[in-house]
Amino acid sequence: MDAEEFRKRGKEMIDYVADYLENVRDRRVFPEVSPGYLRELIPDHAPEEGEKWENVFKDIERVIMPGVTHWHSPQFHAYYPTANSYPAIVADILSDSIGCIGFTWASSPACTELEVVVLDWLGKLLNLPEEFLHGSGGRGGGVIQSTASEATLVALLSARAREIFRYKQKNPDVEDGVIMSKFVAYSSDQAHSSVERAGLIACIKMRALPTDDNSALRGHALKEAIDRDRAQGFIPIFVCATLGTTPSCAFDNTMELGKICEEEGIWMHVDAAYAGSAFICPEFRPLLDGVEYAESFNFNPHKWLNVNFDCSSMWVKDSTLLTEAFNVDPLYLKHENQGQMPDYRHWHIPLGRRFRSLKLWFVLRMFGLKGLQEGIRKDVQLAHQFEDLVRSDERFEVVQKVVMGLVCFRLKGTNEVNEKLLKDINADGRIHMVPSIVKEVYFLRFAICASRTTSDDVRFAWNVIKELASKM
Ligand SMILES: Cc1ncc(COP(=O)(O)O)c(C=O)c1O
Repeated sequence: MDAEEFRKRGKEMIDYVADYLENVRDRRVFPEVSPGYLRELIPDHAPEEGEKWENVFKDIERVIMPGVTHWHSPQFHAYYPTANSYPAIVADILSDSIGCIGFTWASSPACTELEVVVLDWLGKLLNLPEEFLHGSGGRGGGVIQSTASEATLVALLSARAREIFRYKQKNPDVEDGVIMSKFVAYSSDQAHSSVERAGLIACIKMRALPTDDNSALRGHALKEAIDRDRAQGFIPIFVCATLGTTPSCAFDNTMELGKICEEEGIWMHVDAAYAGSAFICPEFRPLLDGVEYAESFNFNPHKWLNVNFDCSSMWVKDSTLLTEAFNVDPLYLKHENQGQMPDYRHWHIPLGRRFRSLKLWFVLRMFGLKGLQEGIRKDVQLAHQFEDLVRSDERFEVVQKVVMGLVCFRLKGTNEVNEKLLKDINADGRIHMVPSIVKEVYFLRFAICASRTTSDDVRFAWNVIKELASKM
């Protein structure tokens, strides 16, 4: 493909993408294929000679689309949303075209400098404490990680490095492995699986603490665990608080947890992967209170803030805790302006990084705060519409307070009945959802996901659910 053909085919692809997204409602949301379907549709080896574009293009509908779960269908109500907007897609084309790998300031100054500035913009939209911003003149600042999982892992590894350093100042001869075997970290029993996984990767015992009736981790549960562990000779080093848990969108009491972490000298990381986007609305911002006690905070604009995957924004109060934890410094990565701007390679796990701040920048500029707030409020309103429909049918119950764009509901009755209902819904194929379980109660999760979801779509989904429940 030369430049001439690229101009032509690129435009064709833009048309295809716009048609796909504008008409995705007409496709079956969940594919009807069996594992291994794709291998039968394409050869088992790459072509010897290059193929014509027409052949490649044709195979999008023939090979790919039959196996796509359409996350941007208004009938998709599973998991949590993944964001998608035209400004972000366009910015990603530019990012792919510049194609730089921005591991240091020198490797592409604009890549680093835009990230620094837009993460300050975003931090200000969330009204984050000044200490988290690059512009505060302190050691704080933001970075784009690929995922919330990576942010949690980076925070935990940094906490681990800090505590090993502290321990060795008093006990210089003790091996790192011996010290680490004493460390413990905590989250609620509702935290995302990536938190447990971070513990496994970092070789730190991760304790899942019991939550209250609202699925929230409270201060007394944390304090009891800390006291118990200290009495047994363990060293608590890290707490991951969740704002907007995955099973039911519950909120840990960050204020209570934060105060304890401050008293105990423990690193608190706040994972608000989904719910964090809503904190740009003043009515939801109180849920973030307590973040002032955190060492690190993360949420995913790629979930609910119109920025396509991947864009997970993380802020820290003291970036030296990251840069010193992961610092290796070969000659080929050094440059003469070191220290004046962040070299983001020290802030995360991979070396390479894409120019992801472009899509955040385009989105923030083209939607503006008002446009972004409108999107969040619309989704929350749709969730309440669905909640009202559920409550209007006495066969059903809502099992968790609806705070954002997620409704957790079930048929009154056994878990088995609800498992059957969900199975029927997904087999029917008109809408798609996933279940969850909290304190042994199985329920269905109805998440408002696609930006094109309307009030009619919510009514449509409810009618499908009612119809299938009646058949049962
Ligand atoms: C609370 C929470 N934390 C972490 C994650 C993982 O997100 P990521 O895919 O960005 O790692 C999720 C995913 O839904 C989540 O809900």
